[in-house]
Amino acid sequence: MKLLLKFNLVFLLVFAIGLGVSATIARDLLRSNAEAQVVERARLLMEKADVVSTYTAKQIAPLLQTQMNYHFLPQSVPSYSAMEVLGALGKSYPDYFYKAAMLNPTNPRDKANDWEEDVVNQFRKNDGLKEFIGQRDAPTGRALYIARPIRINDGACLRCHSTPDAAPKPLVDRYGPSNGFGWKTGEVLGARIVSVPMTVPLKEADHAFTVVMGLLAAVFLFIGGALNLMLWKLVIQPVTRLSALSDRVSRGELEAPEFTTGSHDEIGVLAESFGRMRKSLVHAMKLLDS
Ligand code: HEC
Repeated sequence: MKLLLKFNLVFLLVFAIGLGVSATIARDLLRSNAEAQVVERARLLMEKADVVSTYTAKQIAPLLQTQMNYHFLPQSVPSYSAMEVLGALGKSYPDYFYKAAMLNPTNPRDKANDWEEDVVNQFRKNDGLKEFIGQRDAPTGRALYIARPIRINDGACLRCHSTPDAAPKPLVDRYGPSNGFGWKTGEVLGARIVSVPMTVPLKEADHAFTVVMGLLAAVFLFIGGALNLMLWKLVIQPVTRLSALSDRVSRGELEAPEFTTGSHDEIGVLAESFGRMRKSLVHAMKLLDS
């Protein structure tokens, strides 16, 4: 097998292994980066929902107390305002959503659907679970969601959520007596869920992956080309010329031209040794002739 072929086979093998390993590492790294970014975005939205809820409970609800004696104002309910604010966000960003998904909600729009019910049940089964991160295929593409359990820890919540009799009459008039009651403190009643699209970050990660791998392959090929050229210029070409010359000398063409590489590398030293050997040979032939 020719030297250049051997060299290129080994080089291609190293190239393939190097590219394969880098591809696995780069893909994992870029994808987990994209996922971390999406999780961060989802947490931010969850925090926003918390902030809006607290604001409503602390600042809005007390202002509406008097009017609440006549008719019920959902604007005083923390989870209502969180839903309104984040729901409005969903109008400009339809792939994002926030929901207080409940098994038995006061407002039917908060009723958990199939997959949300599964998430709620995860929290019901595992009492210590504080947060759950999952992925799903939404109609608009791959989405990541963060869920946190909803419990009531404060007995004051039961005024409106225990029985229709205990609840303010305007509330029952508005929402009816059949749902949103019978909640118990400490029990997981639902889950707050934030869902954030992953399609764009994943696409960006894939694009970055293609660019990185393309660059890596280009660098590898460039190095391969340069090494081939060097191997050809520094080793193969002088060795081929030297071997052609030795052939001529061995066939008795003693007047064949001298061979020098002009350098002092190993090939240069070989050429010099060959030159000396040839001189000795010519000398020996002359001695034999005389
Ligand atoms: C004054 C009555 C009242 C009190 C007190 C109250 N809630 Fe509610 N809650 C409501 C109403 C009404 C809704 C439905 C709002 C809507 O239309 O979205 C609601 C909705 C909710 C929801 C959203 C899911 C659903 O059922 O629609 C959660 C979660 C919730 N409440 C938790 C609590 C917690 C926790 C407390 C105690 C800190 C509490 N509530 C105290 C009246 C009350």
